[in-house]
Amino acid sequence: MQTLADSPTRHLVLGITGGIAAYKCAELVRLWVRAGHTVDVVMTEAALAFVGAATFQALSGRPVRSSLWNSAERNGMDHIALSRNVDALIVAPASADFIGKLTYGLADDLLSTLCLARDCPLLVAPAMNRQMWQNPATQRNVAQLRADGVTILGPDSGEQACGETGEGRMLEPHEIAERVAAYLQPKPLAGLRVLLTAGPTLEPIDPVRAITNRSSGQMGYAVAAAARDAGAEVTLISGPTALDAPWDVERVNVETAAQMQAAVETRVTGCDIFIGVAAVADYRVVAPSGSKIKKSEASMSLELAANPDILASVAARPNPPFCVGFAAESEHLLEHAELKRRRKTLPLMVANLAQDSIGRSDSQITLLDDHGVHPLPLASKTQSARWLVDHIASLYHARGSSR
Ligand code: CTP
Repeated sequence: MQTLADSPTRHLVLGITGGIAAYKCAELVRLWVRAGHTVDVVMTEAALAFVGAATFQALSGRPVRSSLWNSAERNGMDHIALSRNVDALIVAPASADFIGKLTYGLADDLLSTLCLARDCPLLVAPAMNRQMWQNPATQRNVAQLRADGVTILGPDSGEQACGETGEGRMLEPHEIAERVAAYLQPKPLAGLRVLLTAGPTLEPIDPVRAITNRSSGQMGYAVAAAARDAGAEVTLISGPTALDAPWDVERVNVETAAQMQAAVETRVTGCDIFIGVAAVADYRVVAPSGSKIKKSEASMSLELAANPDILASVAARPNPPFCVGFAAESEHLLEHAELKRRRKTLPLMVANLAQDSIGRSDSQITLLDDHGVHPLPLASKTQSARWLVDHIASLYHARGSSR
């Protein structure tokens, strides 16, 4: 999962409108401030009916503004000045009424005027009753905002403050923070399709037993999220893991190497970049038993057959995508990794020591490409994945321009 500590510091403006989810914004401001961001809070009159300005003043350490009329500080020009030199303006929660105002360019209070006069990106996190959300008027307004270049965050579905259940809940504060951070990342993979494998595979022995490995899937999921944040359309073919699918990533669940290969083959055509992060089992049981094997002998043996090498077969396609492999080794890291890179004819191999990486949330990776060996510092898997994606993007684009 992306941690906020991995984001560069930003100057953000948070606009709070009248909705019960306004109380959650206290946590959002706290998360942003803890990550080192500067946050200016602007509240509508309706928002002030739900939460007090003092809460946000204390959490942001900056004055909270709500009126067009009482600001001497910037010659009464808050509605202009507040969006200048900021990274983004985020409205959360955005009520149905405020979304309507935004759609039609109405400007009758500080926040709506600020939105109209902004010169920074606008992100909006709707929060309302499910019927209000589904109402054609709201849906029309949201579609218009999207067409106008506004980014809509969520909403989520679930239990609502009114007691009903459905779509319209504001995203949780950490999800809003994550999506804003993702939005602000550079987009070197915009317009590209990335296909990844991640996690372990699981090769059945009988209905209750299987051969698998200790891969948690964390690195593959972090790379999928980093590629998405870099602007790519991402498909993740995942072996069994305990991880939630990263948002805005298509996840395809598989168990065996054969299923993983079939899932890759049906999706690889048209993909620009293929990244094999999965710890694919090298062997499968030739004849898995249909019923649970009973212990009857002091020992037993299983006949194993080699699994197909998914990455090698993608790299061997005519006109292959840009292929990236992972080599988790317990010794002679760089020699083994470079050997694998050459054997599978990959432009890029990521090497790490298995004992330092599997099941951990940080990693120290080394990148091997035609230009040499590039060791990266120990970092969270989120950060390592971002560095890797940046490297992939620069090699990918350099390859394109040298063709
Ligand atoms: N890989 C694959 N299909 C396989 C085996 C591996 O796609 N059947 C991919 C992995 O996703 C990873 C890379 O190949 O990107 C790992 O290379 P490999 O030489 O297969 O690694 P190991 O299986 O760890 O090899 P060894 O057991 O020989 O160390």
